[in-house]
Amino acid sequence: MLLQFFTITDIFPMFIKILSSLPSAIIKNSSFLLQRPLTTMHSNIITKEFGKFKVQVLPALSDNFMYLLIDNSTKEAAIVDPVAPDVVWDAVHKENVKLTTVLTTHHHWDHAGGNKELINSNTNDQLTVIGGDDRIDGLTVMIDTHGVDFQFGSLNIKCLRTPCHTTGHICYYVNGGQDDVVFTGDTLFLGGCGRFFEGTATQMYEALIKILSQLPDSTAVFLWT
Ligand SMILES: [Fe+2]
Repeated sequence: MLLQFFTITDIFPMFIKILSSLPSAIIKNSSFLLQRPLTTMHSNIITKEFGKFKVQVLPALSDNFMYLLIDNSTKEAAIVDPVAPDVVWDAVHKENVKLTTVLTTHHHWDHAGGNKELINSNTNDQLTVIGGDDRIDGLTVMIDTHGVDFQFGSLNIKCLRTPCHTTGHICYYVNGGQDDVVFTGDTLFLGGCGRFFEGTATQMYEALIKILSQLPDSTAVFLWT
């Protein structure tokens, strides 16, 4: 799912503008994934340590990723887009953490398609499933306002509404004091943006330039490829 243009004439002028605006907030400080060869990064679990938290990059499907966010102080975990529940539970058990929360970027099957199975196989307290679209399986918390935030252990998670790829797309910005990360779903990819299935070029421009590019320069960006 690399960059896929809707039409060149619609997107090209916008993309030139985007590329010229990105370096300050995205390219320069983008995720460590950018430094990894594409051919070697899918099959392994990668762990990125931050001060108060860590993020495990979990492989899913043939070319997809899930992200396990762990708050170090409470050992509470959230999973971003758990399309492969078995892989998620393996990581949760190995890390000896408690999975409490599902952060769903959007309703497409390769992101939310594992929600039901994850919920059904959970033996602890009910999972909180967060998202911005009532088409998301198992949704318990609907985010219909941009910028809603909540506390997750010692971390703050802000829900950034970025409609375009889907009308209910959410990016999740996590702030742990000195460190911050963002999970961009199918809005921002490594080298492009998501298809405009349910939105306009203007909406994607706003998502990339007015929302994601305005995050602090320190923000690590966890991208889907
Ligand atoms: Fe998608």
